[in-house]
Amino acid sequence: MEPVNSTIKSTMKHAAPKFDLNNAIQCALATIDSNLITFGNTFPNDTTVKNIYYPRPAHGNFAEGSNYEWTTSFWTGMLWLAYELSGSDKYRQVAERHILSFAERIKQKLDVDTHDLGFLYSLACVAPWRLTKNEQAREAALLAANQLMTRYHKKAEIIQAWGDLNDPTQRGRTIVDSLLNMPLLYWTSEVTGDPQFATAAHRHAMQVCTHMIRPDNTTYHTFYWDTESGEPLYGRTAQGFSDDSCWARGQAWSIYGFLLNYRYTRDSTFLETAQKTADYFLANLPEDHVAYWDLVFKEGSSEERDSSAAAIAVCGLLEMVQWLPDGPQRQRYQAAADNILASLAQNYAACDPSKSNALLLHSVYDKNTNRGVDEGTLWGDYFYLEALMRAHNQNWQLYW
Ligand code: GLY
Repeated sequence: MEPVNSTIKSTMKHAAPKFDLNNAIQCALATIDSNLITFGNTFPNDTTVKNIYYPRPAHGNFAEGSNYEWTTSFWTGMLWLAYELSGSDKYRQVAERHILSFAERIKQKLDVDTHDLGFLYSLACVAPWRLTKNEQAREAALLAANQLMTRYHKKAEIIQAWGDLNDPTQRGRTIVDSLLNMPLLYWTSEVTGDPQFATAAHRHAMQVCTHMIRPDNTTYHTFYWDTESGEPLYGRTAQGFSDDSCWARGQAWSIYGFLLNYRYTRDSTFLETAQKTADYFLANLPEDHVAYWDLVFKEGSSEERDSSAAAIAVCGLLEMVQWLPDGPQRQRYQAAADNILASLAQNYAACDPSKSNALLLHSVYDKNTNRGVDEGTLWGDYFYLEALMRAHNQNWQLYW
């Protein structure tokens, strides 16, 4: 581990002008320090309200601040990144207490009817297993992977994203975000030696690749399969502008998601697809390099940006450059990542905990339902910090 200090040198080859990586990391750590006092073992809500995170509200049998829904592990993941960036045990101690919460959640099956188990358990449990060989974390992650496998429809070869498996509105539906949930399954095959998890993940990612990428390299947000015949049916949006538009975060999930699937399978189709979806994403950015919430909107639009899509894309682009040979393509993706990250750090990062306890401002959760519009989001914060970590240390070992 290489803690950040005042003499940190960026490993970025094409750092954009005025981007002070060390300062950006120190700003993020200061906000996390403040959130450590506010939230500690409990969990903030998915998004800020007027740029402030409050505790996750009480919901059904869940008390205020408890561990439900899909975004809690991003707070835990930020603590592990802060631990690695600083070397300070104060982050590790709280993140280790979160493991107890995630272990309880999967053992008691509390809000686990979702494909988001991958997001949740990769960051909250696979990360500590990788970093500290925490046995309880390993066990919880394996339980989560088994639960995730119950959502695999064998005929359609897809993992159902949302809801009860018998819900007719959700049965046979997957979403492009799902690509980030596959690493939990690949990891499980690695640690158990049982190939069924990795096989399901590979097939699922290939179905997403075959049916959810349109001929122009844009993505459907969600897509339905007939689970009896296995036939692909049709695409629909949930959070995008329209069924045939390209939701910016979905496109970013596809860039990073296909690369993570490539990392485990070395299936070149995934690397090629990540490049194609990245090219579309990059060709449709406004001048400040940070996407509007749907790529249908162009420079000058009054629609909101989604800085979280930008942060996810940076992580994907920085992953991509690790797999491409040196040359113009690789340099182009590196330069694009540098430009986006510099813009985020200069124009979108919050650096005053008294004004905002988010790391990154100006994300959109769901414009269609007016949820978390132009706010901080836990995943935007996490991927921004992961992007800073990747810029700081090209040899960083992924949690995914
Ligand atoms: N994975 C849910 C979202 O990106 O909003």
